[in-house]
Amino acid sequence: MDKKTSLIKMNQRNHPLRIGIIGMGGFAGAHHSAIYELEKRNLAKLLCTCDIHPENFKKQIQELNMEKRGVKIFNNYINMLDEFKDILQMVTIPAPIHLHAEMHRECVNRKLPVYLEKPPTLDYFELLQMIETEKKAIKNTNVGFNYIVQDLRQDLKRRIIQGEFGEIKKITFTGLWPRYPSYFKRSQWAGRLIIDNKIVLDSCFGNALSHFIHNILFWCGKKNLFSWDPVKIVHAELYRAHQIQSTDTVFVSASTENVRDIRIILTHACAKKTPDIEKIYCSDAEIVFEGNKSNNGKTFAESTIEWKDGKIERKQQENQNLVISNIQRYIDYLSGKENRPLTKIDDCIPFVMFNDLIYIAAEDIACIPEQYLEYIDAGEGEKFIAIKNIESIAEEFIERKKFPSEQKIPWAHKGGVAKNTDITRLNTVIQSLVEKAQN
Ligand SMILES: NC(=O)c1ccc[n+]([C@@H]2O[C@H](COP(=O)([O-])OP(=O)(O)OC[C@H]3O[C@@H](n4cnc5c(N)ncnc54)[C@H](O)[C@@H]3O)[C@@H](O)[C@H]2O)c1
Repeated sequence: MDKKTSLIKMNQRNHPLRIGIIGMGGFAGAHHSAIYELEKRNLAKLLCTCDIHPENFKKQIQELNMEKRGVKIFNNYINMLDEFKDILQMVTIPAPIHLHAEMHRECVNRKLPVYLEKPPTLDYFELLQMIETEKKAIKNTNVGFNYIVQDLRQDLKRRIIQGEFGEIKKITFTGLWPRYPSYFKRSQWAGRLIIDNKIVLDSCFGNALSHFIHNILFWCGKKNLFSWDPVKIVHAELYRAHQIQSTDTVFVSASTENVRDIRIILTHACAKKTPDIEKIYCSDAEIVFEGNKSNNGKTFAESTIEWKDGKIERKQQENQNLVISNIQRYIDYLSGKENRPLTKIDDCIPFVMFNDLIYIAAEDIACIPEQYLEYIDAGEGEKFIAIKNIESIAEEFIERKKFPSEQKIPWAHKGGVAKNTDITRLNTVIQSLVEKAQN
């Protein structure tokens, strides 16, 4: 029986979907827990998994009852795919970003549907190759950006498209997410621009906070619910406080086809996390959307709409575990209950283009000298590296669109601008950034 027929039959008989996971540690741990939970609900069945170091996961193997569940463990993902290709109905790829393209291709070539962790890649030209590969896929790949699944978000997007709030004039986002120095030591590719001659571009923008960039482009897309608006012009200043090759602090203003004023500040060089608030300023209302508001151990999506006439509308919706919701939503697509995945690979063109243009615009990643940094003990045995006064510098940027160089901050370095047509300069710019980082 071919793969498509087996998926249809699964739907008819309500059989659990047969899954393999590439990776066991890091975020792959969240995939394992989510799929174990779906297995308990009889929606999924994990047949196999792999890691380059499976010996490191004895505790996890025990805790997740893998032996009893009959999960076969490999140390090489190709061997796993070859042995299980005829019976698997889906593979999840929560593996390092620069390996996504090759892993996606190996799955597609074996007619295996893929749930790929975000971002698909951070290299625009590799993304174009992945889109080519995807043409051969028997079912569209889903890219696991966490928040598109939220009903409250989708309902609000429908209302924006219908023009209920007027034109979007501006969108802002502040993401101060502290990370210990050890975050960048957890894997060889963390905080890298390039590894093994491959573009990685791991950063707060491309990795941990990428969800919010994808969300902003989602609000801007006018064509239909599942549309993401391409960026046209990007102004950026990039900095590093941690000892990494890439950037950990990004100030960016941009315009897309539909929205002229987008302001984003992201950093891992801070000591206190800000709430993840997407602010959408429309001609008739201001919208505050918080996708991950926590209260009493639960998390919520919350939207507050403040109309120009003073009327206020507030809605809340409890989040289930977002990884489970996203994987379950992909299973619904594979079994024919939904007609498309939430984010397809080609839906990521605007995000990946935006990511790459910040480097092309800035052309430099300025190091913040020691005297402007502070080391803050959060009582967890390691100290946060924080840029002094980052909160007020970020606020000034969001409120008045003044980059650090325009605020005359002593460590600031004037950035630059890039248009989407400048994407052709990606490799040259990244090569030059790598050389500068070595000096
Ligand atoms: N959706 C989210 O909220 C979220 C959160 C964190 C990370 N992520 C994404 O998850 C992915 C993995 O990130 P991470 O930080 O966990 O990475 P990681 O470097 O910790 O790798 C995850 C696991 O993959 C294994 N691995 C590496 N190479 C492999 C190979 N060739 N074959 C099999 N296994 C291999 C590693 O040993 C590790 O156990 C990334 O795409 C990241 O952006 C998503």
